[in-house]
Amino acid sequence: MSGQRVFVMGHPIGHSRSPMMHGYWLKQLGIDATYTPLDIAPDDIAGFFAGFRDAGWTGGNVTVPHKEAVIPHIDAIDDDARAIGAVNTLWWQDDRLIGGNTDAYGFMANLDDRAPGWDRGAERAVVIGAGGATRAIVHGLTGRGMSVAVANRTEERARSLAAKFAGVTGHGMADLPGLLAEADLLVNATSLGMSGQPPLDVDLAPLKSGAVVTDIVYAPLETGLLKSAAGRGHETVDGLGMLIHQGAEAFRRWFGILPDATDELRALLIEDLTRSSH
Ligand code: ATR
Repeated sequence: MSGQRVFVMGHPIGHSRSPMMHGYWLKQLGIDATYTPLDIAPDDIAGFFAGFRDAGWTGGNVTVPHKEAVIPHIDAIDDDARAIGAVNTLWWQDDRLIGGNTDAYGFMANLDDRAPGWDRGAERAVVIGAGGATRAIVHGLTGRGMSVAVANRTEERARSLAAKFAGVTGHGMADLPGLLAEADLLVNATSLGMSGQPPLDVDLAPLKSGAVVTDIVYAPLETGLLKSAAGRGHETVDGLGMLIHQGAEAFRRWFGILPDATDELRALLIEDLTRSSH
């Protein structure tokens, strides 16, 4: 394992915490490899892939806004990427460049890690939002046998997303009170509540007691949603672990080792998030 090279491509890419995270694991495991952020504009994707084989990459991550755009440029996608309709990880299988998606894994692993037993007797989840993150989360939850209600400001987007998955229904926000009363898990899969964005305005009073509440937003770590859920006695899980676990599974595709989501790594990321919010 000498001098392997991995990248993350996005546009912009300066905000990405992936270089810090993968750099930590490479050092911890003593692997001789680099992880490089690449700012690639949408118009430059074809050129990037035209030179891909000669560039000698071991693999890479793909982030916003390229998760769908890379698909025509690679040799195959795996079942997760097909179900989610987006790719976040690229690796070689023999001589073929494969695109996969570790976001569903990351979401589920975060819940399993931070709220062990959360799924005991859990049957129904409510996911707010109908963008790319929701597709990954719905894929993860349905894969574990949950039935899922997707609620979105634009009801039509929720309905068309739901139509692509078995056991999923699509709703407008007006249905939320009734849905929350039956929910064992509530997920915010929008960017609302992130620093600089408006808060997610949801009345948690109807939420089933014992429901677990989680958020994909991790800056701030404790969003308004998680704060009010905790205040009502719900178990909560912040979004940072989804980032960490999707990265860990991507790392495994390149290097064959699933690295640990250590407390030290979490602290390192939190410190960086705190620093950049000032
Ligand atoms: P991505 O695909 O990256 O996940 P997205 O497609 O922009 O992001 O999705 C963001 C989600 O946040 C959507 O569900 C969006 O609702 P709409 O489909 O109605 O646009 C939701 N969202 C964003 N801003 C919102 C707001 N101010 N109020 C309610 N929902 C909002």
